Amino acid sequence: MDETIFNNAIASLPQTFREGPAPRAALLLGSGWNRAADSLTALETIPYSEIPGFGAATVTGHDGRLVLAEAPGGGRVLVFCGRRHWYEGCEWEAVVMPAVLARRLGAPVFLVTNAAGAIRTSLAPGDVVLLSDHLRLSPLTPLRGPHNPAFGPRFPDQSRVYDPELGETLRAAAARQNLTLSDGVYALACGPAFETPAEIRAYGILGADVVGMSTVPEAMVASAMGVRVAGLSFVSNMAAGISSRRLDGNDVVDCAARHAPRLARLVLDFLELLPAAQ
Ligand code: HPA
Repeated sequence: MDETIFNNAIASLPQTFREGPAPRAALLLGSGWNRAADSLTALETIPYSEIPGFGAATVTGHDGRLVLAEAPGGGRVLVFCGRRHWYEGCEWEAVVMPAVLARRLGAPVFLVTNAAGAIRTSLAPGDVVLLSDHLRLSPLTPLRGPHNPAFGPRFPDQSRVYDPELGETLRAAAARQNLTLSDGVYALACGPAFETPAEIRAYGILGADVVGMSTVPEAMVASAMGVRVAGLSFVSNMAAGISSRRLDGNDVVDCAARHAPRLARLVLDFLELLPAAQ
Protein backbone atom coordinates (compact mmCIF):
# COMPACT_ATOMS: atom_id res chain seq x y z
CA MET A 1 0.00 0.00 0.00
CA ASP A 2 1.13 3.51 -0.79
CA GLU A 3 1.53 5.53 2.41
CA THR A 4 1.50 8.87 0.57
CA ILE A 5 -2.13 8.22 -0.41
CA PHE A 6 -3.10 8.06 3.26
CA ASN A 7 -0.95 11.09 4.14
CA ASN A 8 -2.70 13.11 1.42
CA ALA A 9 -6.09 11.89 2.62
CA ILE A 10 -5.38 13.02 6.17
CA ALA A 11 -4.05 16.37 4.97
CA SER A 12 -7.33 16.92 3.06
CA LEU A 13 -9.52 16.55 6.16
CA PRO A 14 -10.97 19.64 7.82
CA GLN A 15 -8.96 20.63 10.89
CA THR A 16 -11.64 19.46 13.33
CA PHE A 17 -10.80 15.85 12.38
CA ARG A 18 -7.11 16.32 13.10
CA GLU A 19 -7.31 18.44 16.24
CA GLY A 20 -8.86 17.97 19.65
CA PRO A 21 -9.42 14.71 21.48
CA ALA A 22 -8.90 11.46 19.55
CA PRO A 23 -12.12 9.60 18.72
CA ARG A 24 -13.05 6.85 21.20
CA ALA A 25 -14.05 4.63 18.30
CA ALA A 26 -14.42 4.50 14.54
CA LEU A 27 -17.44 2.93 12.86
CA LEU A 28 -17.59 1.59 9.34
CA LEU A 29 -21.27 1.49 8.43
CA GLY A 30 -22.13 -0.87 5.57
CA SER A 31 -25.45 -1.65 3.85
CA GLY A 32 -28.32 -1.13 6.26
CA TRP A 33 -26.17 0.48 8.92
CA ASN A 34 -25.71 4.01 7.52
CA ARG A 35 -28.71 5.41 9.44
CA ALA A 36 -26.80 5.11 12.73
CA ALA A 37 -24.99 8.30 11.80
CA ASP A 38 -28.25 10.29 11.57
CA SER A 39 -28.91 10.06 15.31
CA LEU A 40 -25.51 11.48 16.23
CA THR A 41 -24.65 15.15 16.60
CA ALA A 42 -22.17 15.82 13.81
CA LEU A 43 -19.22 18.12 14.48
CA GLU A 44 -17.90 17.92 10.91
CA THR A 45 -18.75 16.03 7.71
CA ILE A 46 -16.81 15.48 4.50
CA PRO A 47 -17.89 13.51 1.42
CA TYR A 48 -15.54 10.67 0.45
CA SER A 49 -15.32 12.27 -3.01
CA GLU A 50 -13.36 15.15 -1.44
CA ILE A 51 -10.81 12.83 0.18
CA PRO A 52 -8.04 12.00 -2.31
CA GLY A 53 -7.46 8.28 -2.69
CA PHE A 54 -10.91 7.45 -1.28
CA GLY A 55 -13.42 8.51 -3.96
CA ALA A 56 -17.21 8.61 -4.04
CA ALA A 57 -19.08 5.50 -2.93
CA THR A 58 -20.73 3.86 -5.95
CA VAL A 59 -22.96 1.23 -4.36
CA THR A 60 -26.61 1.82 -3.30
CA GLY A 61 -26.93 1.92 0.48
CA HIS A 62 -23.48 3.44 0.93
CA ASP A 63 -23.74 7.20 1.58
CA GLY A 64 -20.05 7.97 1.07
CA ARG A 65 -19.42 10.51 3.81
CA LEU A 66 -17.14 10.71 6.80
CA VAL A 67 -18.60 12.24 9.94
CA LEU A 68 -16.93 13.28 13.14
CA ALA A 69 -19.65 13.25 15.79
CA GLU A 70 -20.27 13.49 19.50
CA ALA A 71 -20.41 9.95 20.87
CA PRO A 72 -23.26 8.87 23.15
CA GLY A 73 -21.54 8.33 26.49
CA GLY A 74 -19.07 11.16 25.85
CA GLY A 75 -16.15 11.93 23.60
CA ARG A 76 -16.03 11.73 19.85
CA VAL A 77 -16.66 9.04 17.26
CA LEU A 78 -15.45 8.80 13.67
CA VAL A 79 -18.19 7.47 11.40
CA PHE A 80 -17.55 6.14 7.90
CA CYS A 81 -20.98 6.02 6.23
CA GLY A 82 -20.48 3.52 3.45
CA ARG A 83 -17.43 1.76 2.06
CA ARG A 84 -15.52 1.16 -1.14
CA HIS A 85 -15.34 -2.47 -2.29
CA TRP A 86 -12.61 -4.24 -4.23
CA TYR A 87 -15.14 -5.19 -6.93
CA GLU A 88 -15.81 -1.50 -7.68
CA GLY A 89 -12.41 -1.48 -9.35
CA CYS A 90 -10.82 0.96 -6.93
CA GLU A 91 -7.36 0.60 -5.41
CA TRP A 92 -6.81 -1.24 -2.13
CA GLU A 93 -6.02 2.09 -0.47
CA ALA A 94 -9.64 3.18 -1.01
CA VAL A 95 -10.98 -0.10 0.39
CA VAL A 96 -8.92 0.07 3.58
CA MET A 97 -9.00 3.88 3.93
CA PRO A 98 -11.40 3.70 6.94
CA ALA A 99 -9.10 1.30 8.79
CA VAL A 100 -5.99 3.38 8.18
CA LEU A 101 -7.68 6.72 8.95
CA ALA A 102 -9.16 5.24 12.14
CA ARG A 103 -5.65 4.27 13.25
CA ARG A 104 -4.00 7.51 12.16
CA LEU A 105 -6.66 9.66 13.84
CA GLY A 106 -6.17 7.73 17.07
CA ALA A 107 -9.32 5.60 17.38
CA PRO A 108 -8.50 2.55 19.54
CA VAL A 109 -11.64 0.66 18.49
CA PHE A 110 -13.00 -0.08 15.01
CA LEU A 111 -16.51 -1.48 14.51
CA VAL A 112 -17.03 -2.90 11.00
CA THR A 113 -20.56 -3.65 9.80
CA ASN A 114 -22.06 -5.17 6.66
CA ALA A 115 -25.04 -6.91 5.15
CA ALA A 116 -24.48 -10.58 4.41
CA GLY A 117 -26.15 -13.73 3.12
CA ALA A 118 -26.79 -16.49 5.64
CA ILE A 119 -25.21 -19.88 4.97
CA ARG A 120 -26.15 -21.42 8.33
CA THR A 121 -29.77 -22.51 8.02
CA SER A 122 -30.66 -21.55 11.60
CA LEU A 123 -30.12 -17.89 10.67
CA ALA A 124 -32.86 -15.80 9.05
CA PRO A 125 -33.12 -12.41 7.36
CA GLY A 126 -33.14 -9.71 10.05
CA ASP A 127 -30.71 -11.58 12.34
CA VAL A 128 -27.49 -9.90 13.44
CA VAL A 129 -24.31 -11.98 13.63
CA LEU A 130 -21.33 -11.11 15.81
CA LEU A 131 -18.24 -12.02 13.83
CA SER A 132 -15.95 -14.41 15.66
CA ASP A 133 -13.60 -14.97 12.71
CA HIS A 134 -13.43 -14.86 8.94
CA LEU A 135 -12.41 -16.91 5.91
CA ARG A 136 -10.54 -15.06 3.17
CA LEU A 137 -11.31 -17.40 0.31
CA SER A 138 -9.06 -15.76 -2.24
CA PRO A 139 -5.43 -14.70 -2.52
CA LEU A 140 -6.51 -11.05 -2.69
CA THR A 141 -5.06 -9.04 0.16
CA PRO A 142 -4.32 -5.37 0.73
CA LEU A 143 -1.15 -6.44 2.57
CA ARG A 144 0.50 -7.73 -0.61
CA GLY A 145 3.61 -5.81 -1.68
CA PRO A 146 6.76 -4.43 -0.09
CA HIS A 147 6.51 -4.44 3.67
CA ASN A 148 5.86 -1.08 5.33
CA PRO A 149 5.89 -1.27 9.16
CA ALA A 150 3.39 1.62 9.20
CA PHE A 151 0.78 -1.03 8.36
CA GLY A 152 1.87 -3.54 10.98
CA PRO A 153 4.26 -6.49 10.93
CA ARG A 154 5.22 -8.32 7.73
CA PHE A 155 3.33 -11.38 9.01
CA PRO A 156 0.47 -10.04 11.13
CA ASP A 157 -1.08 -12.46 13.59
CA GLN A 158 -4.66 -13.25 12.57
CA SER A 159 -5.55 -15.61 15.38
CA ARG A 160 -7.71 -12.98 17.10
CA VAL A 161 -8.85 -10.40 14.56
CA TYR A 162 -12.19 -9.81 16.34
CA ASP A 163 -11.80 -8.67 19.94
CA PRO A 164 -13.85 -10.84 22.34
CA GLU A 165 -14.28 -8.05 24.92
CA LEU A 166 -15.77 -5.75 22.32
CA GLY A 167 -18.00 -8.66 21.37
CA GLU A 168 -19.31 -8.78 24.94
CA THR A 169 -20.04 -5.05 24.80
CA LEU A 170 -21.99 -5.61 21.58
CA ARG A 171 -23.95 -8.44 23.21
CA ALA A 172 -24.82 -6.15 26.12
CA ALA A 173 -25.89 -3.44 23.67
CA ALA A 174 -28.06 -5.95 21.79
CA ALA A 175 -29.64 -7.18 25.03
CA ARG A 176 -31.01 -3.68 25.60
CA GLN A 177 -33.41 -4.29 22.71
CA ASN A 178 -33.92 -7.99 23.51
CA LEU A 179 -31.78 -8.93 20.57
CA THR A 180 -29.54 -11.99 20.79
CA LEU A 181 -26.44 -11.93 18.61
CA SER A 182 -25.40 -15.27 17.09
CA ASP A 183 -21.67 -15.88 16.75
CA GLY A 184 -20.54 -16.51 13.21
CA VAL A 185 -17.69 -16.86 10.76
CA TYR A 186 -17.78 -14.48 7.77
CA ALA A 187 -16.63 -15.71 4.36
CA LEU A 188 -15.29 -13.09 1.99
CA ALA A 189 -16.47 -13.53 -1.60
CA CYS A 190 -14.99 -11.20 -4.21
CA GLY A 191 -18.28 -10.17 -5.82
CA PRO A 192 -19.86 -8.43 -7.57
CA ALA A 193 -21.69 -11.56 -8.73
CA PHE A 194 -23.47 -13.39 -5.95
CA GLU A 195 -22.09 -16.85 -5.24
CA THR A 196 -23.30 -20.05 -6.84
CA PRO A 197 -25.13 -22.63 -4.71
CA ALA A 198 -22.11 -24.96 -5.09
CA GLU A 199 -19.80 -22.25 -3.74
CA ILE A 200 -22.13 -21.66 -0.81
CA ARG A 201 -22.23 -25.40 -0.02
CA ALA A 202 -18.43 -25.43 -0.09
CA TYR A 203 -18.14 -22.36 2.17
CA GLY A 204 -20.55 -23.99 4.61
CA ILE A 205 -18.41 -27.14 4.74
CA LEU A 206 -15.37 -24.93 5.38
CA GLY A 207 -17.06 -23.40 8.42
CA ALA A 208 -18.63 -20.17 7.16
CA ASP A 209 -21.92 -18.99 8.65
CA VAL A 210 -22.42 -15.85 6.55
CA VAL A 211 -21.03 -14.57 3.27
CA GLY A 212 -20.38 -11.09 1.95
CA MET A 213 -18.18 -8.97 -0.32
CA SER A 214 -16.44 -6.73 2.19
CA THR A 215 -15.18 -6.32 5.76
CA VAL A 216 -12.23 -8.73 5.71
CA PRO A 217 -9.67 -6.34 4.13
CA GLU A 218 -10.59 -3.54 6.52
CA ALA A 219 -10.61 -5.82 9.58
CA MET A 220 -7.25 -7.35 8.61
CA VAL A 221 -5.55 -4.01 8.17
CA ALA A 222 -6.99 -2.46 11.33
CA SER A 223 -5.99 -5.43 13.46
CA ALA A 224 -2.51 -5.56 11.89
CA MET A 225 -2.12 -1.90 12.90
CA GLY A 226 -3.05 -2.69 16.50
CA VAL A 227 -6.62 -1.37 16.50
CA ARG A 228 -9.21 -3.46 18.39
CA VAL A 229 -11.78 -4.69 15.88
CA ALA A 230 -15.38 -5.84 16.24
CA GLY A 231 -17.59 -6.98 13.37
CA LEU A 232 -21.33 -7.30 12.83
CA SER A 233 -23.20 -8.81 9.89
CA PHE A 234 -26.83 -8.02 9.29
CA VAL A 235 -28.46 -10.99 7.54
CA SER A 236 -30.27 -9.52 4.54
CA ASN A 237 -30.97 -12.81 2.72
CA MET A 238 -30.34 -16.53 2.73
CA ALA A 239 -27.27 -17.25 0.59
CA ALA A 240 -27.57 -18.75 -2.90
CA GLY A 241 -29.24 -22.16 -2.89
CA ILE A 242 -30.06 -22.07 0.84
CA SER A 243 -33.58 -20.94 -0.05
CA SER A 244 -35.25 -21.32 -3.43
CA ARG A 245 -35.42 -17.54 -3.77
CA ARG A 246 -33.19 -16.01 -6.42
CA LEU A 247 -30.82 -13.27 -5.29
CA ASP A 248 -31.34 -9.62 -6.14
CA GLY A 249 -29.26 -6.71 -4.85
CA ASN A 250 -32.43 -4.63 -4.46
CA ASP A 251 -33.81 -7.15 -1.96
CA VAL A 252 -30.64 -6.72 0.11
CA VAL A 253 -31.13 -2.94 0.16
CA ASP A 254 -34.89 -3.21 0.92
CA CYS A 255 -34.38 -5.69 3.77
CA ALA A 256 -31.60 -3.55 5.22
CA ALA A 257 -33.78 -0.42 5.02
CA ARG A 258 -36.59 -2.17 6.94
CA HIS A 259 -34.24 -3.04 9.79
CA ALA A 260 -32.17 0.18 9.76
CA PRO A 261 -33.68 1.70 12.97
CA ARG A 262 -32.85 -1.45 14.98
CA LEU A 263 -29.31 -1.57 13.61
CA ALA A 264 -28.79 2.12 14.38
CA ARG A 265 -29.99 1.56 17.96
CA LEU A 266 -27.50 -1.27 18.38
CA VAL A 267 -24.58 0.88 17.24
CA LEU A 268 -25.58 3.79 19.49
CA ASP A 269 -25.98 1.51 22.51
CA PHE A 270 -22.57 0.00 21.77
CA LEU A 271 -21.01 3.48 21.86
CA GLU A 272 -22.80 4.28 25.10
CA LEU A 273 -21.54 1.10 26.77
CA LEU A 274 -18.04 1.32 25.34
CA PRO A 275 -16.23 3.33 28.05
CA ALA A 276 -17.08 0.73 30.66
CA ALA A 277 -15.36 -1.93 28.55
CA GLN A 278 -12.09 -0.06 28.03
N1 HPA B 1 -23.59 -12.86 -0.86
C1 HPA B 1 -22.60 -11.95 -0.88
N2 HPA B 1 -22.73 -10.73 -0.39
C2 HPA B 1 -23.90 -10.40 0.16
C3 HPA B 1 -24.98 -11.29 0.23
C4 HPA B 1 -24.82 -12.59 -0.32
O1 HPA B 1 -25.73 -13.44 -0.31
N3 HPA B 1 -26.00 -10.62 0.83
C5 HPA B 1 -25.54 -9.39 1.14
N4 HPA B 1 -24.28 -9.23 0.72
